[in-house]
Formats: sequence, structure tokens, C-alpha cells
Amino acid sequence: MTIASSPSTPSMLLRKKLIAGNWKMNKTSADAVSLVKEIVTVVGKEHDVEIVVCPPFTALESVARALEGTAIKLGAQNMHTEPAGAYTGEISAAMLRALFTSYVILGHSERRTFFKESDALINQKVLAALKSQLKPIVCVGETLQERESGATLKVVQTQVEHGLQGVSKELATSVVIAYEPVWAIGTGRVATTEQAQEVHAFIRSLLSKLFGEPVAQKIRILYGGSMKPANAPELLAQKDIDGGLIGGASLEARSFVDLVKAAAATK
Ligand code: 13P
Repeated sequence: MTIASSPSTPSMLLRKKLIAGNWKMNKTSADAVSLVKEIVTVVGKEHDVEIVVCPPFTALESVARALEGTAIKLGAQNMHTEPAGAYTGEISAAMLRALFTSYVILGHSERRTFFKESDALINQKVLAALKSQLKPIVCVGETLQERESGATLKVVQTQVEHGLQGVSKELATSVVIAYEPVWAIGTGRVATTEQAQEVHAFIRSLLSKLFGEPVAQKIRILYGGSMKPANAPELLAQKDIDGGLIGGASLEARSFVDLVKAAAATK
């Protein structure tokens, strides 16, 4: 019997916890290097938790250099669907790969809201990322209005199913899902562990329908939205919460490192 086919296998054996910092539009290249050097000093050799930092495009190269020889991986915050061409101001998967980028955040709610990214566009990006061996961190989540009207699971279902359309079973384990309730992002209002676990378990059931249960058991589902060292242990202890996508608390070495330690403690 393989590990993946046993329903009793603890999730930690199937899914290494992942803590990813989404720095959004913060940090110059020089500031990014200072921050990452501080992080490396404390958790640069951490192997029990996968650590990813996602600086702005302008700091990817300098941060990549600062991460050389460490276990910390590099991620980007967006990319274009096409490999190259007349797309002024855009960045392709191949360009990201050339800077040793391993992950790319796609479909963040800020991109959906401010840049009108649709599920169809996000899906094209997901497929393009996988084609270039970039691991997409696909963000989903409901607005406050959607939650209050009882539409949370429906909204998340549409985002997951449309976002992952055409992804093969073989590549699905390279995908990471981030459940980020829009009302919890940057607001200090974190989802309760019950609210988060309910949606995470639902997402895993959707993944099971799409890719089969053994594959679904291997896909990491991160929580994002006002995650801090104080609320992380309880969230990370939930069965289907496999890590965090961190905004504000990833901009300071101390809080980010504490989040990594919280994940290591629950592994
Ligand atoms: P905050 O942690 O600042 O709420 O941001 C979450 C987020 O959007 C990560 O992608």
C-alpha cells in the first residue's frame, strides 16, 4: 500500500508545511536583501518546513543571490500567460525561471479586484506556470458580502474548478492552493479556525473530485489573511491547513521567523 492510498496516514507525512511571504508592493531591492539576510540567519537551514519568499519583481535577482546555498525558495507575485512578446510591462514564466524562481502567486484577490483578473485568465496563467516548471500558488476566497450571503463555498468552488481547469493529475501535486478570505486580508480580522478548516476541507474534497483522493492528499492548502505568530499555532494545527500565505507579518524578519517556527512545531 502506498502512503497516499492510506486514509490513516498523517497529513504531515504527505504534505510538508509551507510558509510563504507575500511582500506585495513593498521593499526596494536593497531593503529586500536586508530582510532576507535576517531570515536566512535564523531559518536558512530549516528543512522541516518549506519556506518561500515572494518579493516584488525588482528584487527577485538580488534576493535569489542572497538565498544561494540556503533551503529558502523564491517566489514571484504574478506573471503573464505568454512566454515572450509585445506585452509592455509584463514578465513571463521563462524570465522568472531564469532567476531561479520556484513559485508564483496567481489570482491573488488584489489582482482579481484591482486588475480585474478573471478565473479564465488565472487558469491560463496556472497552465503557463506549470508548463515552465513554476509551482503556482493559486489564491481563492470570498468577500465579506459573499460570506454574509452564504455564498462562500460556491464562490470558492467556482474559483478552484475554473482556476485548475486542464491541469493534469501528474502536475496537480505541484499546485498549492491559498484560501484567503478577502475580508481577512490586511484587516487584522482573522478567520476562526472552524471557518478556515471548513473551507480547507471543502477545497480538499473538490481536489479529490478533480484529481482523485491520493493526489488531493498531497496538495498543500495554505491559509492567508491576518495570520500572525499569535494566531498561527491554532490555525496550523487544523487537519487541512498546510501552511500560510503571509502578507503584513512577512515584512519583518522576527514575525516571519516566528511563523516558520510555529509551523515547525505543528509538523
Ligand atoms: P495579510 O497577512 O497582510 O492579511 O495579507 C494576506 C495576503 O494577502 C497574503 O497574500
